[in-house]
Amino acid sequence: MRIEQSPEFQIHLQNLRSKEQLFLETIYNVGNGHFGVRDSNPLQGNSPDYIGSPGLFINGFFDYKEVSYGEKYRGYPDNNQVINRLLDPRFIRIKVGNEDSLTDHFRVENIDKNLDMQTGLLHELFSVTTPENRNFNLVVESFASLSKLNVYGIKYAIIPTNFSEEVEVIKMHDYVNQSVHHQDDDIRVSQDLGQMQMDFIPDNGQPSYLVTTFRSQQGIIITYQANENFAPNPKIEYFMDENHHYGYRSKYFAKPGSSKDFEFLFAIGDIHPLVNANMYSDQYLASLDNFINDTTFKSELMASAQVWQTFWLHSDVEIDGDPALQQCVRFNLFELNQSAGRDEKTSIPAKGLTGNGYGGHFFWDTEIFMLPFFTYTQPEIAKELLMFRYHTLQIAKEQASDFGLGKGAMYPWRTINGFESSAYWLAGQAQFHINADIAFAVEQYYEITRDEDFLRHYGFEIILETARFWMEYGNYAELDGKRQFVINRVTGPDEYSALVDNNYYTNVLAQSNLQLAAKYAHKYKDDDGMLSRLNVTDEEVHDMEEAAAAMYLPYDKEKNVKLQFQNFEQLPKMDIASIDQSMFPLLLNYHPLMLYRHQVNKQADTVMVDFMFPEGNTLAQLKSDYEFYEPITTHDSSLSKAICAIIAARIGKDQQSYDFFSQAVQTDLMDVHHNTKNGIHAGSLGAAWEGIIYGFAGVVNNAKSFSLQPHLPVTWNCLKFKMHLYGNEFQFIIYQDTVEVDLISGKGADITVANEKKQLSHQNPKQMWTYK
Ligand code: BGC
Repeated sequence: MRIEQSPEFQIHLQNLRSKEQLFLETIYNVGNGHFGVRDSNPLQGNSPDYIGSPGLFINGFFDYKEVSYGEKYRGYPDNNQVINRLLDPRFIRIKVGNEDSLTDHFRVENIDKNLDMQTGLLHELFSVTTPENRNFNLVVESFASLSKLNVYGIKYAIIPTNFSEEVEVIKMHDYVNQSVHHQDDDIRVSQDLGQMQMDFIPDNGQPSYLVTTFRSQQGIIITYQANENFAPNPKIEYFMDENHHYGYRSKYFAKPGSSKDFEFLFAIGDIHPLVNANMYSDQYLASLDNFINDTTFKSELMASAQVWQTFWLHSDVEIDGDPALQQCVRFNLFELNQSAGRDEKTSIPAKGLTGNGYGGHFFWDTEIFMLPFFTYTQPEIAKELLMFRYHTLQIAKEQASDFGLGKGAMYPWRTINGFESSAYWLAGQAQFHINADIAFAVEQYYEITRDEDFLRHYGFEIILETARFWMEYGNYAELDGKRQFVINRVTGPDEYSALVDNNYYTNVLAQSNLQLAAKYAHKYKDDDGMLSRLNVTDEEVHDMEEAAAAMYLPYDKEKNVKLQFQNFEQLPKMDIASIDQSMFPLLLNYHPLMLYRHQVNKQADTVMVDFMFPEGNTLAQLKSDYEFYEPITTHDSSLSKAICAIIAARIGKDQQSYDFFSQAVQTDLMDVHHNTKNGIHAGSLGAAWEGIIYGFAGVVNNAKSFSLQPHLPVTWNCLKFKMHLYGNEFQFIIYQDTVEVDLISGKGADITVANEKKQLSHQNPKQMWTYK
């Protein structure tokens, strides 16, 4: 297979604004949802002088870090979970004559880097100069396989420019918890733990390690093989050093201009409980070997590239008329696909698998900002991500009970293993909206896929148990002369306010959560004992319906705005325009209480409701909400701008919508928040996709219909994307005045554009609309 390189799919070093080492390490990461590898300098990844943050991150492989509190109250989590930074598989040691990259400072210059997003291949050229001025080019190619999620491939070519001498190449990873000299005071960055242990597994003909964690009691096996099946490679031999550590080495005589290749395939195992990892390591190793035996770098790369091709075929978003943003969009989709867990045991860390920012935790970012992309384009991955929530439901139920609630599930605000991991509960655990966010995502998945089996066996239970949480946490109160259901003392999505009463977003989502639980309880009322298995009674369903109908939604009648929370109007406005730029993000420069007592938003909060529940809102309502909240929003969270772009598009603020969208879509590639060095902003990348689909294409999808009301930026000639809907696949092409939809597979469905419904079927596989 030969894939033509299309320029729009290449991320070329020359085209990047920043060439900062840490930034490049993030941008040029390769990953596949099981693991991610930062793009370290391969010769210096293990050197104390190296100003980088190299490493391999495995989704779900973490250790605990004890949280030390000044005053520890009951129920505060004892431990934080932090994703582990493992050995850097890019690391290589090269000796030239009497000089050794391990001990002498080899100067490594980036000459070229290119990430081919079509195939997932990272191609790099370094110019390496030794202290005694020997110079050689080092070409490195690497990829994380999408066809075998355990496989990572790396290939080095050494080309001397000015010496004829013996070269020795050593590939050995005899360290763990490699020194990382990059330190950061940013509270969003987590520090390394250093609690792993790495044991060499006795000789099986190739270097293999068992890496175990001390506190979380997890174990993982990593092994790698050198490939010797091709000429003109010098013989690579397997050896053991004086410390009984295993590796590969090769010595050969190098001449200027000659090129020698060394290729390695790593098999990065699955996570096992420590006891099993110790007991069955031989067995696990044998099955890992199967992934890398009798194969080559090239054939694994080809197989993986084919999966990338299929990905682009179904998930690409093509923008005609905006090449710069087109590239960012592709980069974002590429990163999302590299980050998503696919094993039902993991989700998508807020920083993908590109760093340990935010501890490697999963937040609402997955369900609200990233999942829609997967649900519409790769529903099987969306299901796996939701299954992670199903498999941790029991923990969430235990957490609710420990918390003192009689019933229901309380999902953690941030987690890796299903347990709460937020040490700052005010902006963490108190974000109970996570429960309803997950229920919302389950419903959205079901609406789009109509996956009855999922709803029946897993989805309904998630919706039910999260709905039960609201019945326990909320209560009735007399307000405005009426008996209303209130949910007090919660933190909404906006983290510049905390522990408020009746957060609008939370209450609307809880209301929907309760309605869904009741709706599906009715749906399953005759279903062989399902309701009795889950102990659902008519009375409980009735109570949920009543609470949903009586949900208190604070509203300012004078200003006609939805109130972010009860009494929000009493807070003074913070004049953000007068604050010096150096003080942003405010969370790093103000005491939280300074922020909490003002009208100031870190991110879209009430506006999120207008985005997620567009129905029933007049244009005037959307406008007054947006015009009230946007000016008090700092967008200090990267999740904010894309959402504002959607509402701005809907209310006709075209330029503002485009500006917000372009900033959101460039978040990482252009390092908009100046912290991409710590990892990508996966939620923001997903939100940018939402900006296109829900903003510019104007998609509205609910249980009743699927519709579009495009608001295409004036400079775009057309926008093209595909989506799965009710078991069909459609292609949408949106021009400035018209929309064309093609049925690609499936039996067809009704689609509405600008209020005009048309049917697509085998007889009518193409429909056109004029929408302006
Ligand atoms: C945002 C949260 C988000 C988290 C992880 C925070 O800055 O306020 O909404 O879940 O980052 O991305």
